[in-house]
Formats: sequence, C-alpha cells, structure tokens
Amino acid sequence: MTRRVRLIGIGSGHPDQLTLEGAAALEGVDFVIAAAKSADDPLLESRREICRRHGNPELVAVPDPPRDRDDPTDYTGAVADWHDARAAAYERVLLERDGDAAFLVWGDPAFYDSTIRIVERILARGNVRFDHDVLPGISSLQVLAAAHRIVLHEVGQPILVTTGRRLAEAVAQGHENLVVMLDGGLACRTLVDPSGWRIWWGANLGTPDQALVAGPLTDVLPEIEAARARAKSASGWVMDTYLLRRG
Ligand SMILES: C[S@@+](CC[C@H](N)C(=O)[O-])C[C@H]1O[C@@H](n2cnc3c(N)ncnc32)[C@H](O)[C@@H]1O
Repeated sequence: MTRRVRLIGIGSGHPDQLTLEGAAALEGVDFVIAAAKSADDPLLESRREICRRHGNPELVAVPDPPRDRDDPTDYTGAVADWHDARAAAYERVLLERDGDAAFLVWGDPAFYDSTIRIVERILARGNVRFDHDVLPGISSLQVLAAAHRIVLHEVGQPILVTTGRRLAEAVAQGHENLVVMLDGGLACRTLVDPSGWRIWWGANLGTPDQALVAGPLTDVLPEIEAARARAKSASGWVMDTYLLRRG
C-alpha cells in the first residue's frame, strides 16, 4: 500500500479546535513532521500537546531553514528558496522513516500557509513517493468572527482576505471590507484616510491570552497596541487578525 502524508488543519491556538476528522487522521499516522523555529518554539509545544491527546505519534522537530528577509525587492524569490530548503529537510525525514506521516498545519491549510506547496515540491523532487490528502481546520479568521459574534461581510457582500503588506494597495483599489492577516506591524495604523473605518481585531485567538478590541479605527488603535503588547508578553508570541470595514 502506498504510504500516506496527511496535512491536518489543527485550528488556531486551542487543541479543542481540532476536528474529529483531524483527530482520527492523527491517531492513524506513525509520526508527525513539524518545523521548529527555535529551541523553545511555543507553536511546536501546541503541536506536541495535540499529539499527546491523539495517539501520541512521534513528533519529529525539524529546525526551520533561515529565510532571507533582507531583500524586500525579491520577496517571491526568497520565499521560493525557503520552500525548497524546507522541502529538502522534510524529504530527509521521510527517507529516514517508514510509515504514514502528518503535518499539523496551523489554522486551515488553505489560508496563508505553504505546507501544501512544500509537500508538492517534495513529490516533484522524485526521491520519495506517497499519496497526500488535506483535512481542513478552523482558521483564525473564523475564530475572529466567532469571538466577536459577527459575520465577516454584510448581507450578500464580498470580502477580501489579504495581508498587512498589501493592505494599502487593497484600500486604494476601493475594497471596503477586508480581513487582514500576517500583519506584524499593524498596517491599519498607516491608512491614508483612517476616518470612517471600523475594526474588529483579535490576537492569540482561541488561547487563554486571547485579546479582542472593536470600534472605530481611530478611537481604538491605542487600545489595540496595548492589548497586542500584553498578549505578546503573556503568551511569548503574538499573532493577530482583524476585519476592517468602511462605513
Ligand atoms: C502563516 S499565517 C497562518 C494562517 C492559518 N493557516 C489560518 O488559517 O489561520 C499566520 C497568520 O494567521 C493569523 N493567525 C493565526 N493564528 C492566529 C491566532 N490564534 N490569533 C490571531 N491571528 C492568528 C495571523 O494573522 C498570523 O499572522
């Protein structure tokens, strides 16, 4: 039988967010491959906890290859090199071990995560064979909406999901209902015209240190900055997502 590699969405911060389908898949694998950003990577610890709860497969921590962040003119090239390095490192683990493997993907694998692309790169290298499947998880944007008890768009209206680095461009294009992820620098602080915008912001969603702020953007920015700093010192890490809506 062909070996399987399973990409399991694990939710965005709380082990209870793992779906029953994801838990069953995890219980059936022989080992888990996980990137370790540092020796005490807190997100690695979350994955360990999920493994302990579901079959306790071996967790193989792979030191994350460094990413060249110094050349903003070649962001795509830097990311491609980083994906190649990750594919090579994970391939080594798959060659060293037999059996089925899983990647525990933060949130849902469909949003701002490259595990699917990296697994495709491993297959393209041609040194190891396997079937792979993807099990959806609860994305941070869903947890944000639930925590604020909101729908992410007005009735029948669209929504744009984008990143902090592309926020200014999206607003200039006329988007008025946006979910912003991957924004370590709170790009909403620098909107050309911040008046008329409302924000629903959340950090470390789903964790005991979850922080939520909502209101007119210009009024609540200081509160968001303070809450962001508190979440970081409480958890040792901070990730935030927010909905911005004009009008
Ligand atoms: C690399 S992306 C991964 C997204 C993930 N696949 C998902 O579906 O949520 C990381 C970004 O997701 C968001 N994020 C992930 N977990 C979060 C959490 N617990 N609270 C708030 N935002 C989170 C943040 O915008 C963060 O910068």
